[in-house]
Amino acid sequence: MKFDVKNLNQADRGISRIAWADRSMPVLQQVRDRFKAKKPLKKLRIAACLHVTTETANLMRTLKDGGANVRLCASNPLSTQDDVAAALVKKWKIPTFAITGASRKKYYDHLNATLDFKPQITMDDGADLVSLLHSERKNLAVNVKGSTEETTTGVIRLKSMAKNKVLKFPVVAVNDADTKHLFDNRYGTGQSTIDGILRATNILLAGQKFIVAGYGMCGRGVAMRARGMGAHVVITEVDPTRALEAHLDGYEVMSMEGAAKVGDVFVTVTGNTRVIRPEHFRAMKNGAIIANSGHFDVEIDIAGLKEMTKEIVKIRDYVEEYKITKDQSLFVLGEGRLINLAAAEGHPAQVMDMSFANQALAAEYIAKSYRKLKKQVYPVPADIDKEIARLKLQTLGISIDKLTKEQQEYLASWQLGT
Ligand code: NAI
Repeated sequence: MKFDVKNLNQADRGISRIAWADRSMPVLQQVRDRFKAKKPLKKLRIAACLHVTTETANLMRTLKDGGANVRLCASNPLSTQDDVAAALVKKWKIPTFAITGASRKKYYDHLNATLDFKPQITMDDGADLVSLLHSERKNLAVNVKGSTEETTTGVIRLKSMAKNKVLKFPVVAVNDADTKHLFDNRYGTGQSTIDGILRATNILLAGQKFIVAGYGMCGRGVAMRARGMGAHVVITEVDPTRALEAHLDGYEVMSMEGAAKVGDVFVTVTGNTRVIRPEHFRAMKNGAIIANSGHFDVEIDIAGLKEMTKEIVKIRDYVEEYKITKDQSLFVLGEGRLINLAAAEGHPAQVMDMSFANQALAAEYIAKSYRKLKKQVYPVPADIDKEIARLKLQTLGISIDKLTKEQQEYLASWQLGT
């Protein structure tokens, strides 16, 4: 079996942590039990490019139990948990290509190794596999029945490919399922971004001016949790509706130009490029801390910052000091890569339970329905999305009401009113 991981001797630690995450993933467990019995992915080759974390390991086990032949590589060079990669190889015999801190070349070697077995379904977090299948590895696209996409940035890239009619196979936008983005992006990114910043710096958040760029699903979560820790939260936005929402949610809203002057801690979660640029760095207070939790490491203009910096000093793990003048140093966390996965462990298993149940069921949906699908981006079917919510509630022991017959008729009727 081919694989490339850091150290197989770390497998036992990985196995134990994967089991710990699994305890909080009851919906995925139910999917796995059914997959084990029914084998809906029998003999399908599935290539996954996801953050190699304990929760991802449980998804990989589920796909394998469903009968698939699975390969995995990392979707970010800093997010790999090496013990998890070792466990997947040693215990579950899943070819895994992921080493934390991999160089750019190694990162792409791993993506290519994952594609070498000619996958029929691909699973992406940021559309890197799909992108290779439309460039250097075009010849392999004919084998692909369909693909799934985990994150907002990936979905945006894929929708633009579909719009330009270059997409070569159907894609299911897992990110857009309600049981994904309403929980994973908001509560997952919210908590784990704060966790990453605190693990990297150990600062006291209470009393800090905490700037969140982007008030989307992730930004709302980060802002909510930072406020909960006593920070004074400021939002920057480009969308007037989102900015208004942030204002009515009780946050201060300003432009980055204004925020740069007052912020102690900055977090970007926009999915956009160069949100914090040299003109903002120049205006920042000495000692300001800058982090990103958006998918790609393009939100903070690190190249621009380097140009204006005299010296970069590593202060502690995931903290680099950029000495700009004798009176101004800025601290960048995790090289501007998503801080919740670089310095912490990513989202808690309780939310990944729903995200990855969506991934597993989307793969099953592609396996069943690919002949009917066009080269477009599809939502997760509504019945799958609702079923995941229902199962999650059930596993939490929460009951809800059912519509009575009278209520169903009332809601369906336009004649009944006052
Ligand atoms: P979203 O589309 O819901 O929100 C993004 C927000 O940023 C929008 O309101 C948009 O108007 C705003 N924005 C865009 N350009 C801006 C600028 N220059 N300045 C200020 N605001 C700007 O997207 P979502 O779901 O919140 O995702 C954001 C990013 O986080 C994406 O890259 C996504 O892939 C990533 N993500 C990261 C996760 C993690 O684990 N760190 C988890 C889930 C998503």
